[in-house]
Amino acid sequence: MDTKIDKLNTELSPNHPKSFSSDAASFWSLVESREFQEIMMLYRCAIREVQTKFEVLDDELSHRRNRKPIEYIISRIKRPESIVEKLYRKGYPLTIDSIRQHLNDVAGIRIVCSFIDDIYDIARMLVKQDDITLIEVKDYIRNPKLNGYRSHHMIIEIPIFLSDRKEMMRVEVQLRTIAMDFWSSLEHQLKYKRDIPHADDIVSELKDCADVIAHTDARMQEIKNRIYVNDTRIQDLWNLQEETI
Ligand code: GTP
Ligand code: MG
Repeated sequence: MDTKIDKLNTELSPNHPKSFSSDAASFWSLVESREFQEIMMLYRCAIREVQTKFEVLDDELSHRRNRKPIEYIISRIKRPESIVEKLYRKGYPLTIDSIRQHLNDVAGIRIVCSFIDDIYDIARMLVKQDDITLIEVKDYIRNPKLNGYRSHHMIIEIPIFLSDRKEMMRVEVQLRTIAMDFWSSLEHQLKYKRDIPHADDIVSELKDCADVIAHTDARMQEIKNRIYVNDTRIQDLWNLQEETI
């Protein structure tokens, strides 16, 4: 029964003052409760709703411009162990309310595009929709992280209509180019692998690659603009404000 707890203990920082095992009972009573199953169902529904919105935009824009803005979409629900680990690490109570209040990334969706302009266009189109509330934006494309990480992040809230009520659910949306996605998955592996020889060299090499990628993304956008000279930015068509996102 304690394999999940053992895993949590290894995931927790070794300097953490308290081992998770002492909280095994609260872990199981939360994760196996009906309320927990229900909230996970709501997060799954939220992902479906948001994914459909992006698919609709992709279909409509492909029809309008003969060019698909979205290459692929992936989504994930945070694992129960990771939910509990994050609450625990941040010192929040292990309750359903606490998950809703403190965790913005239980439902996550990643939108991968070829071109940077498309990222901003579809991000604006999404948040302009009546039922979407924008909670937070972190633009790591305009302001990359020191390690070179680039992506456009938004936390949004979307209503889920149930038989007898409406629930507002939060979803983390990450938009990035194919090249940024390639970089992030390799950099992510570095974080989770221990005892890598010459890790410092790898960090600086990754930073160099991130700069090359950013430069290449900008050049690809320029080339695309020369190929599709009449491809009016959707922002101009719909009079979307640049500063919204
Ligand atoms: P948490 O990291 O989830 O606690 O939230 P945060 O407030 O730091 O959010 P942020 O928007 O910075 O990051 C959210 C997600 O973006 C992470 O869970 C990762 O999936 C991704 N991300 C952020 N920074 C990096 C990075 O440096 N490298 C990689 N590979 N992914 C990153
Ligand atoms: Mg996260």
